[in-house]
Amino acid sequence: MRRSVLAQLLLDAAELGIRLYEWQRRWLDDESLFRALLKSRGVGGSFIIALEALTESLLRQESLILLISYSQRQSLELFRKVKWLLEMLGRATLTWGGETYRSIRLASESKTQIELSSGSRIISLPNNPDAIRGFRADHVYVDEAGMFRNDFEIKSAIVPSIVGRTGRLSLVSTPKGRRGWFYEAWSGGVFSRHTAHYAEAAHISSAELQGLRATLTELEWRQEMEHEFLDEANAVFPYETILQCLYDEADRPPTNPTYMGVDVGRLRDSTVVTLLERLDDGTLRVFHIQELRGLDFQSQESIILELAKTHNPISIAIDKTGIGLPLYESLSRKALGVEGVTFTHNFKEALIATLQSMIRGRRIAIPADSRELINQLRTFQRVETGTGGIRYEAPRGQHDDYVMSLALAVGAALKRLTTGTAVKRVWNWP
Ligand SMILES: Nc1ncnc2c1ncn2[C@@H]1O[C@H](COP(=O)(O)OP(=O)(O)O)[C@@H](O)[C@H]1O
Ligand SMILES: [Mg+2]
Repeated sequence: MRRSVLAQLLLDAAELGIRLYEWQRRWLDDESLFRALLKSRGVGGSFIIALEALTESLLRQESLILLISYSQRQSLELFRKVKWLLEMLGRATLTWGGETYRSIRLASESKTQIELSSGSRIISLPNNPDAIRGFRADHVYVDEAGMFRNDFEIKSAIVPSIVGRTGRLSLVSTPKGRRGWFYEAWSGGVFSRHTAHYAEAAHISSAELQGLRATLTELEWRQEMEHEFLDEANAVFPYETILQCLYDEADRPPTNPTYMGVDVGRLRDSTVVTLLERLDDGTLRVFHIQELRGLDFQSQESIILELAKTHNPISIAIDKTGIGLPLYESLSRKALGVEGVTFTHNFKEALIATLQSMIRGRRIAIPADSRELINQLRTFQRVETGTGGIRYEAPRGQHDDYVMSLALAVGAALKRLTTGTAVKRVWNWP
């Protein structure tokens, strides 16, 4: 039986009302040992991995299937998809060609592993090469392969685990630049290539697409939705340097002095709050990022005050240019340490230069799950102006709120490192 037929049968038995898309059927029926799926965001890449893993474990007795994700949280989320499908299947029976098969049953289950009645195991792991090396897998899936901060290490951990037993390897990802394992696999000629564009995923509504259009920068849109492997040429923060700053300890509460940056929304009407702590070695660890979108002034303020109450930041740097002014004025009456800053051209450039050197020096730690921030950093550009000057910005103006929010928090934290210097002097970095 073709894999796509069995997979559809599973979906029908689970009564999910889901019909596989054309690209999903082609993907499932491709028997190649090495496959790569280049996809837009949200089309069902993780879903098809979860479904295929279950299908495989039905087809092959005692198979071992590894699902690898770029962070702990992503790994749990992907595993939830597998468990959700299993749960929906419940005690349903599969009927095919006049015969009835008993459905998959769960034999045992832990946080990262399920074992099925067929003796097959599905194991979901974050990007820990040592954990991966312990397995000899029949099929390894790497979800969002472009997002791994250590993708070549992962590659060398995975490859020996599948060779010699006709194991298969599948990479699924949105593009993340002309670099890294996924790009190499995509352009190298060994992998069987598949694409999944948002136009081939009917569950993504046009309202959703419009929303994404409005919130993503032009470059982000081309990368996240239109399959474009972006060039690094104009990047202010080269992707490799961003990846070096990522850490994966979701939700570790701060134990050191904290600082807050608030970028007040303009074009897309959203305010972004970034909180970081200064570790003993001087590293600035981002531990909370929150986008306040579609909220009125009052609600934004009360969320910011609540965060300030919880984390007690030493200072809160807030953009008081234009639309930010009322929020700044009101906050500065209600919280301690509020520093209003005016975004002049020079100031912004200095702030970005500081952030750039902190990232280059690996002196910032960013949660691996902060997808929006990572994407915005990655697409933040150096633009040459007609007069020979240089401007830093996200393409199309102001969609740089995550970056500026981080830059403000970093500015706030560094000010405390230079004794007795006035805010203005530190921020007018040469
Ligand atoms: N063939 C399909 N028909 C309807 N919905 C689908 C189909 N395939 C996937 N989906 C849904 O698409 C949504 C996004 O899937 P996900 O796997 O998280 O996307 P991605 O990993 O590509 O970002 C999920 O809610 C999933 O149930
Ligand atoms: Mg996914």
